[in-house]
Amino acid sequence: MTNGEHALTGTEPDWDKAAATFDDEPDHGLRDPEVRQAWAARLRSWLPERASDVLDLGCGTGSLSLLAAEQGHRVTGVDRSAAMVALARAKLAGRDAVFLRGDAAAPPVGEERFDVVLVRHVLWALPDPGRVLRHWRGLLRPGGRFVLIEGVWGTVSPVGIPAEPLTSLLAPLALEVRVESLSDDPRLWGRAVEDERYAVVATA
Ligand SMILES: C[S@@+](CC[C@H](N)C(=O)[O-])C[C@H]1O[C@@H](n2cnc3c(N)ncnc32)[C@H](O)[C@@H]1O
Repeated sequence: MTNGEHALTGTEPDWDKAAATFDDEPDHGLRDPEVRQAWAARLRSWLPERASDVLDLGCGTGSLSLLAAEQGHRVTGVDRSAAMVALARAKLAGRDAVFLRGDAAAPPVGEERFDVVLVRHVLWALPDPGRVLRHWRGLLRPGGRFVLIEGVWGTVSPVGIPAEPLTSLLAPLALEVRVESLSDDPRLWGRAVEDERYAVVATA
């Protein structure tokens, strides 16, 4: 399989149906203060120090959007699921954040450009991730960055995208690509995990 073809073996969930209980998972809802704090600290280290424009693609219920907004950033979230977008809007009500319904692969942001493209657990499920990354590169301002949190989940029938093919896809699009393992920090997941989980921070 070539990098660009690194596609799915799983079946896409019905995200509208999943929305109501999505936040029940510790790393989704970030309700446990220790889990929340672990994600907040990582996010702070991945995002620019100055207040920035963050595009959260496949934002789900907006949990990472909320952490970014709490850290002083302006957030635009995009999700294809109307139910997810409704929950994200409610979660960030009163914050400097807007949520749009649309395709993460071609976000409906017009000519707007961003300092950060933030994506957690979404890229792996999009057809042709290489083409998608090239499109996202065009949404970044000069010096902007990708913050991509992905992994390979499960051991019997694993799904996802390993770090290596993802960094190969990013190499021609970024000046610097850094991979951080997230498998060894149980606080992020609310439990110990054995599969491959990581973040890639790539500066354009
Ligand atoms: C596993 S959830 C991750 C949600 C969020 N990023 C987080 O980490 O909490 C995947 C999300 O991506 C959204 N999604 C999947 N494919 C999409 C697409 N092509 N365009 C926009 N959203 C998509 C789903 O609706 C769902 O909200």
